[in-house]
Amino acid sequence: MKFKLSIILSIVSLAVSAQSKKEIPEIYTNVHYEKDGTLYFQAKGSDEKKTYFPSSPRFTYDKITITPEGTENGLLFNFKDTAFNGTMYYGFIHPEDKYPQPVFFKRTSAIKAGVAEINIKNSLYGKYDAAGWESSGRMRLGYRIADDKGNIIYDGKINVTGKGPFKPDVTIISGPFVNRVTDSSAVISFTTNIETIVYVITDGRSFTDKTQLKNYEIKVDGLKPATRYEYTVKYGDYSDTFSFKTAPFSGSRDPFTFAFASDSRAGQGGGERNIYGTNAYMVKKIMAMTANSKAEFLQFTGDMISGYSDNQNRQKLEYFNWKNTIEPFAHYFPVYVGVGNHEVVEYLFRKDKNTYSWKPGDMASIDKFPFETESAEQLFAKMFVHPHNGPKSEDGSKYDPDPGKTDFPSYDENVYYYTYDNMAMVVLNSNYLYAPSEDMVHLTGGNIHGYIMDNQLEWFGNTISKLEKDDNIDHIFVTIHTPAFPNGGHANNDMWYFGNNEIRPYIAGKPVDKGIIERRDEFLDIMVNKSQKVIALLCGDEHNYSRLRIDGTTDIYPENWEGSKLKLRRTIWQITNGSSGAPYYAQEKLPWSGSVEIFSTKYALVFFNIDGKSIDVEVINPDTGEEVDKAKIR
Ligand SMILES: [Fe+2]
Repeated sequence: MKFKLSIILSIVSLAVSAQSKKEIPEIYTNVHYEKDGTLYFQAKGSDEKKTYFPSSPRFTYDKITITPEGTENGLLFNFKDTAFNGTMYYGFIHPEDKYPQPVFFKRTSAIKAGVAEINIKNSLYGKYDAAGWESSGRMRLGYRIADDKGNIIYDGKINVTGKGPFKPDVTIISGPFVNRVTDSSAVISFTTNIETIVYVITDGRSFTDKTQLKNYEIKVDGLKPATRYEYTVKYGDYSDTFSFKTAPFSGSRDPFTFAFASDSRAGQGGGERNIYGTNAYMVKKIMAMTANSKAEFLQFTGDMISGYSDNQNRQKLEYFNWKNTIEPFAHYFPVYVGVGNHEVVEYLFRKDKNTYSWKPGDMASIDKFPFETESAEQLFAKMFVHPHNGPKSEDGSKYDPDPGKTDFPSYDENVYYYTYDNMAMVVLNSNYLYAPSEDMVHLTGGNIHGYIMDNQLEWFGNTISKLEKDDNIDHIFVTIHTPAFPNGGHANNDMWYFGNNEIRPYIAGKPVDKGIIERRDEFLDIMVNKSQKVIALLCGDEHNYSRLRIDGTTDIYPENWEGSKLKLRRTIWQITNGSSGAPYYAQEKLPWSGSVEIFSTKYALVFFNIDGKSIDVEVINPDTGEEVDKAKIR
């Protein structure tokens, strides 16, 4: 009997451990599980294993964004990490300010063995009581968490009630953000610290959404076009009021402006140039400049954060830092974002736990699975609010290993398009299913940096032809993180790879038909020859600003190119602006360098001024206000 029980128990435990192993997507090869559930990579015929060692980041979203406890004198933060020492800065936020943000108090609190107390009662009183809590018993406190080396980890905020004892209250810890603005609607999104009931009041009507827990996306509709609406988010005893402007009717052809930038991952220099994954110093400058310009929205295409993590909870903290940096300004206008290579959430396979080696062949990495819950694509979709009008996935493509099953991540909210008056913006993802170890892709399977896979390209072609037929649309912009023509920093990849067309994705052990140069040409063919309306390709990845004329005279092939050559029958522009704070790259010599009209390593924010049929580009250094470029492109 005893024997039988132990057999049953071991069957049960086998079943449990098999369950905890997540099914390896068939698109990958040479990736296996050890008996104990450890994931590893081993190329066929090789006796060397590379193992996935899950990272254990010190700072994660769950750990850092805790709601503090109330105490007699203030607030107690317990990060439950006795090795964590640092500093907490704090100060009041005035919710009624146009762009609310904290003004830090002259004193700080120490974080000792993971615990910090903000003493409100004995510091923020009398002439320092800018919130008036001594009479109202209410305040909103902003705080900044820094480690013992001075690295800033997170900027948070908390509503507090009481005059001592104090109590933390329901708080919007991220947002509200204005998203998906149309001529009659908008989506207001935000995150609260605790589950609560929320209302968005606009146009004298109240909108709510009971289906979501702490992340709200509330659609307000039935609005008039080209009209500024105040909106109030009501939650607990709080009402925060901001405003947004609806888009004009498509085809109104009234003059308008939008802004474009990308690449704001953490930079060097200390301080706010790295708030745990994001160059908050530059992002804030860009947002302030956009908010104080005529721009109706900002398009930001990739590498918002440093990313490259295997840990969603860490990556989520980085995304929140970026979102919190845009927040004071993004209460008023939409910021549409795209995927870059840094948004990756990966399995990284290494020879041993203590070594990271970036020598080719030493490490392998792939997009994390199960794709529905772990991939870069799904985290991105959760973090941002975009139209759901993109392609589904690469399922059903020629390379789909099992047409009856989902084998690929989703394109939802990472490939999409939107329109504003007589302009359309098509947002693509050239880091879909991204496997960062380019030299190992033929062994692991996955996509390479810069490659637009089949279904996405097909959707792109169909979307362009639909927009071509739309009489209300005069101008199409296409935005993608990786330039078709790198000019400084990424000649070794993007859509060039030093002219090596052999580079391509591998799916289920097989290379796809088209190499990177052929795929670039198909992409160009749609934009240049199959469209009259596409005017510019907006890219990032390279941390500089460049404006390149692309036409029949542009030299676009490597020497001794034997493939067919695309005839470009029209002029479009490639405008690369990856100058939002990531470390810079200088110009490189490439076949098309003669067509580069301007190249700059200054920080840059691009404004497109659209007036009916004409478009001016105006580029300003958001750090200094100086002009970087000015040109008429249509
Ligand atoms: Fe990039």
